[in-house]
Amino acid sequence: MAIGNHDKVIVLDFGAQYSQLIARRVRECGVYSQIYPYTIPAEEVRRIQPKGIIFSGGPSSVRTPGSPRPDAGIFSLGIPILGICYGLQVMSEMLGGHVTSSGRKEYGLQNIDITDRSSELLHAVSDKSQVWMSHGDSVERIPDGFRITATTPTCPVTVAEDRERRFYGVQFHPEVVHSAEGEKMIRSFVLDICGACADWSMGSFIGDAVESIRRTVGSKRVLCGLSGGVDSSVAAALIHRAIGDQLVCVFVNNGMLRKNEAESVLDLFGRHFNMNLQYADASDDFLSALKGVTEPEAKRKIIGKVFVDTFYREARKCGDVSFLAQGTLYPDVIESRSPSGGPSSTIKSHHNVGGLPEDLKWQLLEPLKELFKDEVRELGKELGLPDELVYRHPFPGPGLGVRCIGEVTKERLDTLREVDAIFIEEIRKAGLYGSIWQAFADLLPVRSVGVQGDERTYREVCTLRAVTSEDAMTADWFRMPYDVLQRASSRICNEVQGVNRVLYDISSKPPATIEWE
Ligand code: XMP
Repeated sequence: MAIGNHDKVIVLDFGAQYSQLIARRVRECGVYSQIYPYTIPAEEVRRIQPKGIIFSGGPSSVRTPGSPRPDAGIFSLGIPILGICYGLQVMSEMLGGHVTSSGRKEYGLQNIDITDRSSELLHAVSDKSQVWMSHGDSVERIPDGFRITATTPTCPVTVAEDRERRFYGVQFHPEVVHSAEGEKMIRSFVLDICGACADWSMGSFIGDAVESIRRTVGSKRVLCGLSGGVDSSVAAALIHRAIGDQLVCVFVNNGMLRKNEAESVLDLFGRHFNMNLQYADASDDFLSALKGVTEPEAKRKIIGKVFVDTFYREARKCGDVSFLAQGTLYPDVIESRSPSGGPSSTIKSHHNVGGLPEDLKWQLLEPLKELFKDEVRELGKELGLPDELVYRHPFPGPGLGVRCIGEVTKERLDTLREVDAIFIEEIRKAGLYGSIWQAFADLLPVRSVGVQGDERTYREVCTLRAVTSEDAMTADWFRMPYDVLQRASSRICNEVQGVNRVLYDISSKPPATIEWE
């Protein structure tokens, strides 16, 4: 998708953990940024015409034969370059400097001594500013034309620059929050040194995206699988803004949705946005395919297969469709790309609909594929989607099927839906929903004895789980206030027929995962 005529600063990825974060920081300056594999030819960079280039860090050592190197022609394009960590080392080595292996890794916080206050990169940064370092190698000799502008006691070349050619390098990570003034350095590079115009915003993204979708789609029709989650909802709302009734959405009810979920999706998209929405209630198909199945992976596979079958059956009713729209996000694209430029971006996006057939007869339309999750949320808000949807906790594709531990039956799903709704309602009432990454309930394949009135009961056990997380890769259990747990537990046992015991899950990830199955 074209980004209009906005200035760009590109990031060349040398296998860094933080490439996405670098691109984020550039966008936070109001300048559009994209990540490319380090192998990108200089000619391609010239065609893209970025205002600046950032070399990311990376796990390799330039001392190792075959370590990643950019096309040397990039240094002759007249475009400013900022090298971060490995980026500084590879630039130094290729331009005639020398890098040594210090023999030990330096990892953690350091305070820099700015030795040259005339540095444009560091002009907004205070002396002794804290930076975060993580490196084994260091630059021992800087290339001709460079000068050192900051040091630390353990790393003589902490910042080096060639002002004539506008090449800059830092031996730390300005993109991480632990580098207290890293953001100022990136801002100085992007705005002052590169001279990029800070005119990129979500508003300008919508305008450009709408125009680009119209140009791509023409008068053809687009099909979009709507799940009610943030990504597919925002993709649908954006495409609808661009092409109105040429968009057909398919919403599959798999019988494992949360309480009132189908109604609210139909209400929002069908009535409020007036979208062309096709609703398929396939709950019976899913439940009969799951009969007697208890093994988690088997459940997931069955749910995925029935979903794909249903989706294609519904799609055939939509007539002459040319495009399939998906809410693929930037991290999905980047995660599927190896630093050497490896597999194409479509491999990962196939997972969005649970596996697309090899001979897909539609073209893919992925209008969010340059955005990060929180940018997608911002876009959703700009497009008029309600906060409940935009800020909703993540929900797994197989839905309550993987939260109904043991056999998945309609009766157990109904019980779980009620438990989940009460738990979330109590969290919302306590004003805690936004502080939690994800909260939900599971129904366990266990019964326990209880007493209600004078009656003995023998009912199911449920567990409540709430976690905090940055990205779902790791998670910690949320320290839920006792009174919220007390209200949720008491309401669940009183209001939900099939349950007489409530547990709270205090496992972190790792070693547990967020979902039980
Ligand atoms: P785990 O359980 O692996 O979950 O710690 C990490 C995050 O992913 C969500 N999740 C899924 N999302 N399809 C999805 O779209 C799935 O099959 C799926 N399984 C887990 C989970 O809710 C958590 O946010």
